[in-house]
Amino acid sequence: MIGILLEIGLLFLRIGLAYCEALISAIVPPRRKNITGEVVLITGAGHGIGRCLALEFAKVGAKLVLWDINQEGNEETAAEIRTIGVSVNTYTVDVTQKDEIYNAAAKVQREVGNVDILVNNAGILHGIELLRLSDEQIERIIAVNTMAHFWTIRTFLPNMIQRNHGHIVTIASMAAKQGVARLVDYTASKYAVAGLTEALSDEIRDMKKTGIKTTTVCPFFVDTGMTKYPNQRFPKLNPLLEPEQVAMEAVDGVLRNKVEIIIPSNLKLSLSLKNPLVPRKVGQLVMDFFDVGIAAQDSEPNKDKDI
Ligand SMILES: *[C@@H]1O[C@H](CO)[C@@H](O)[C@H](O)[C@H]1NC(C)=O
Repeated sequence: MIGILLEIGLLFLRIGLAYCEALISAIVPPRRKNITGEVVLITGAGHGIGRCLALEFAKVGAKLVLWDINQEGNEETAAEIRTIGVSVNTYTVDVTQKDEIYNAAAKVQREVGNVDILVNNAGILHGIELLRLSDEQIERIIAVNTMAHFWTIRTFLPNMIQRNHGHIVTIASMAAKQGVARLVDYTASKYAVAGLTEALSDEIRDMKKTGIKTTTVCPFFVDTGMTKYPNQRFPKLNPLLEPEQVAMEAVDGVLRNKVEIIIPSNLKLSLSLKNPLVPRKVGQLVMDFFDVGIAAQDSEPNKDKDI
């Protein structure tokens, strides 16, 4: 009896300390880690956020490994990185093909070496109603946005575990936090990888591999050409994000080992509406007020686009 009371007392003490720690790191952010010479692999590096992430990681001295289905876009990113003067290797990979992932990973191990930071960024978005999507579009979005994360993580994690060193970065979305009309498939694919990363970080903690970190990045609408018809009532309040800004905040957060990055950070407030103690209708009223979502399209739906 005394034992359990002591334990409960200790638990509250540690909870208090955890709050203090969080408060302190909010005021004085943890120092950025030095990743000079570390190998960063980015999927979907040929366009948009992926390209900007590659540039940001290059600026802090990382060696880049760029994967994309689009060889031309990927080479353009590589050319920009070479001007910064860091090493870069490119691989043409269709991440919907598990075998291509495994083959490319083996090549990376041979030609570059251990991957220190894995950034699962490749993603597609359709932006139309569930019933207007084809079966193939749904299968493809899950293959790119979700399944590919399983295959890359299962490929690169064992080596990270061996070395007790590594970082898994998941480029999710605010759609991993809040479902929106016309993003049913996309929302499902992003909730899935946010859940994957959260559960995986617990598994890593279970294994006591303290040298392996995870980061989930949740940006609001980004101007990459993928989100064709974003809606919102106060665009001045939360303008469409530029991929450069998302990449800068994401890399800064990764270097500080942040577990989750909400971009822009003022949207953290809106996440309190997801608390089960808040009636569902309250969240809907606020969403309606801000008119956030994807505009309905009568005619041509978004083209399937790889980034
Ligand atoms: C970062 O690490 C590299 C090599 O590991 C070292 O040469 C460099 O001085 C370090 N930079 C800083 C700012 O500590």
